Amino acid sequence: MKDYIIHSEWKVIEDGFNPDNNRISESIFSIGNGHTGQRANFEEKYSGDSLQGNYLAGVYYPDKTRVGWWKNGYPEYFAKILNAANWIGIHLEIEGEELDLATASIQKFRRELDMRTALLTRSFVATLPSGKQVEVVAKRFLSMKQQELGAIQYRLRSLNFSAPVRITSFIDGDVMNEDSNYDEKFWDEVEKEAQGQEVFLCMKTKKTGFYACNGQHTRLLVNGKALVVKPEILPKEKQVATVFELDLKEGQELLVEKFASITSSLHYKKEAMLAHGKQAVQQAQQKGFDQLFAEHCQLWEQKWETADIEIKGDVAAQQGIRFNIFQLMQTYTGDDERLNIGPKGFTGEKYGGVTYWDTEAYCLPFFLGTAPEKVAKNLLMYRYKHLQKAIENAEKLGFNHGAALYPMVTINGEECHNEWEITFEEIHRNGAIAYAISHYINYTGDRQYLAPYGFEVLLGISRFWAQRVNWSEAKQAYVMLGVTGPNEYENNVNNNFHTNKMAVWTLNYTLKVIDYLKRDHPYLFEEMIQKWKFNELQETAVWREIIEKMYFPLDEKSGLYLQQDGFLDKEIIPVQQMNQEERPINQNWSWDRILRSCYIKQADTLQSFYWFQDEFDMETLTRHFDFYESITVHESSLSPCVHGILAARIGRREKAYELYLRTARLDLDDYNNDTEDGLHITSMAGTWMAFVESFGGMRVKNGQLLLDPFIPESWESYSFKLNYRNSHLEIQMSDELKITNHNPGSVSVTIWGKEYELVENQEVVLSKEVKI
Ligand code: BGC
Repeated sequence: MKDYIIHSEWKVIEDGFNPDNNRISESIFSIGNGHTGQRANFEEKYSGDSLQGNYLAGVYYPDKTRVGWWKNGYPEYFAKILNAANWIGIHLEIEGEELDLATASIQKFRRELDMRTALLTRSFVATLPSGKQVEVVAKRFLSMKQQELGAIQYRLRSLNFSAPVRITSFIDGDVMNEDSNYDEKFWDEVEKEAQGQEVFLCMKTKKTGFYACNGQHTRLLVNGKALVVKPEILPKEKQVATVFELDLKEGQELLVEKFASITSSLHYKKEAMLAHGKQAVQQAQQKGFDQLFAEHCQLWEQKWETADIEIKGDVAAQQGIRFNIFQLMQTYTGDDERLNIGPKGFTGEKYGGVTYWDTEAYCLPFFLGTAPEKVAKNLLMYRYKHLQKAIENAEKLGFNHGAALYPMVTINGEECHNEWEITFEEIHRNGAIAYAISHYINYTGDRQYLAPYGFEVLLGISRFWAQRVNWSEAKQAYVMLGVTGPNEYENNVNNNFHTNKMAVWTLNYTLKVIDYLKRDHPYLFEEMIQKWKFNELQETAVWREIIEKMYFPLDEKSGLYLQQDGFLDKEIIPVQQMNQEERPINQNWSWDRILRSCYIKQADTLQSFYWFQDEFDMETLTRHFDFYESITVHESSLSPCVHGILAARIGRREKAYELYLRTARLDLDDYNNDTEDGLHITSMAGTWMAFVESFGGMRVKNGQLLLDPFIPESWESYSFKLNYRNSHLEIQMSDELKITNHNPGSVSVTIWGKEYELVENQEVVLSKEVKI
């Protein structure tokens, strides 16, 4: 845990330079615009410890896997979002001496990320070994308006010298991924071009053949006056630069302005990329930094308008929640159904930038609540487009007849993960993908999505479940053997409650969807029967039998559904009674000890109790919460939010607050000592869920929005916004609750158990004793 980020409502601030925290800050101060994103590396040279990171959404490389013992069914490669050309570089030499923050002495260092506008500002005074002193202020942003543009303003003032200065503004494509399995470089140069202040570099990925083209226009002003430039292409391969040389007088300020274009063949035709880059940088430099920034800010303002959460009375909490929302909005904009959300977004290499079940289970609710409907829909479409690959994936494992198993991790629909206990066994992910469809429809009312997209995915997943279970003569029930639940601290278990539940739920839901299609889309349903060779009578008869006779491990004595067969054979010692110094257990215990222990990594049985809370009475929810929470170590950041929401549901508000705090500032305070690897983007969505669903008590039941708000004692007030169907709601909570629908029309909302009709701009004010 660290505590160096200064608390502020709208800004993230680092004051003073500590090289030991540099990688952490590079993650925290990352910027992005959904198409590209970047760690907060320095413009000038830095020979200290740093993880250089520029990422282009959807541009990946199939890195050959490393495994000890190969198993049939393993994928050949692990797709990685690539570290792409570094476009921010501005190196400075003063009388032959390089400005390098690792060798200079640094004073007044400050990094500020303005979350309202996604502007990164960095300032410092550096004394070079020769004694020359400069003051620097650097600003940059990645345009939200024109997603192929970035801009930098770099000011440098001489504080105590007059000397020749050489400024090299460059694009460097000679980059690699730190986690490359065989130290390979993934990019080849295609072409480069230099025309005075404009230089361009086009690269191509090995194997996957993606093109990426970077361009830049750099201009230099001294005390506000533009300087003539001497163009130069550096002799080095994969690099291109514009170099300026001038004599800087003591007290003079030079300003380097860099307008950059960053395009990939995912969004532009290869042949047109260079021309497009030229046009983009031309237009950008004509508009200038301020106008580009103003246009970008407008878009950010709109985003915050529908997504902000305000907390009064606790600046740390305020900064924490805004940081989570801000990073999510930078990572995914939902304008391209081929893109998705990696657990680290654009902020680091860990998890390869690929898609996990995190998207459906955690990110979808955030985008449903805060962004236009199409954003969440594109997340679903991503999986729809991968259906054929999911069917092939299942075929590789021996399934047939259109059964679909979605990969544990993927970028293009193919499985990339190869640890047998996860790749083959952590199949609850298939259930999460099915659940997301119903969640989306329940929230938006867009049932049309089922015809045919939702239905086709559900059919593939249902067929998988029907083949994955088997009949047990001994139990006279269907069972599911050899699985891993969300709790990865135990593998190859039989009858994991959550996985069995997801299977039965999917089959049930698909049956309902079939009824709907037959009723509302009979012709389309006929087409589906042909397309998928769907023998409705026979297949649904099997599904019904499984639904009726699925086995769920239940301990009659305690009334507990067990996480899996034999769970109570374990020695049950609550987390509170274990030696706290041995936590986290994944860093202190052998894997063998972890596997045999009762400790649960993350919400597993409780994931089902969360998703299907309306199926259980309060007593049952409470009984299961008490048992499982007491032995859960929450060593996945995805875990506390689910437990927190359940805690709120059963009236344990202090507990809900305590669990919320565990993730709210996870990265800002580097709680788990791993922020340097990148931010926990997908668990940030869990934090949003925990806020809105615990404190706001928000859920949607049968298409009706329910709210059951309360407020932690230490806060004066909070407010959050929700896009719900055609309404845009603002929920303000203090000693009383105010709720306003800012959109035309009206919407029915159940608040504290009573139904209200919220009409456009009419504030409803209610009061209740709700402080904890
Ligand atoms: C969790 C998984 C999650 C993955 C990526 C793992 O530690 O156990 O549930 O999908 O991280 O966030």
